[in-house]
Amino acid sequence: MALLPILEYPDPRLKKVAQPVAEITQEIRQLIGNMAETMYAAPGIGLAATQVDVHVQVIVIDISETKDDLLTLINPEIIASSGEIYGDEGCLSVPNYFDQIKRAEKITVRTMMETGETREFNAEGLLAVCIQHEIDHLRGIVFVDYLSKLKQSRIVKKLKKQRQMTM
Ligand code: NI
Repeated sequence: MALLPILEYPDPRLKKVAQPVAEITQEIRQLIGNMAETMYAAPGIGLAATQVDVHVQVIVIDISETKDDLLTLINPEIIASSGEIYGDEGCLSVPNYFDQIKRAEKITVRTMMETGETREFNAEGLLAVCIQHEIDHLRGIVFVDYLSKLKQSRIVKKLKKQRQMTM
């Protein structure tokens, strides 16, 4: 397995729309393995393929404290949602920035599993927020897209400064 470079906002490749996975090939399994390793190393609680510049509908998530509960979503869709929740969101593509975003509190997700089977499940709270955030990535949306233009330009400046400092 290998660590993959993560695209940083405002990289235009983060705006690409991911294509559905037609078949779980060896290549897709390898992508899932590499994405999981990259997410754990970062460390983060979720990563969408878009963020590693692969434009297929694959997401990895692990919100457990013990980091041993990997959830892989392939071609995920939100088929029902209810309620409202404001969580403090961050993103591996927007390092060291957090802000409040309005999300549905409860969702029902239909997804393909790594085995190729289709499954439906309910999620709420942090897991629901995380799934909505990652599905947004597959559509080319980063959470800062929901913020004001002023905040967005501040974030771009801050990230540029951070990158210069780490060079
Ligand atoms: Ni993100």
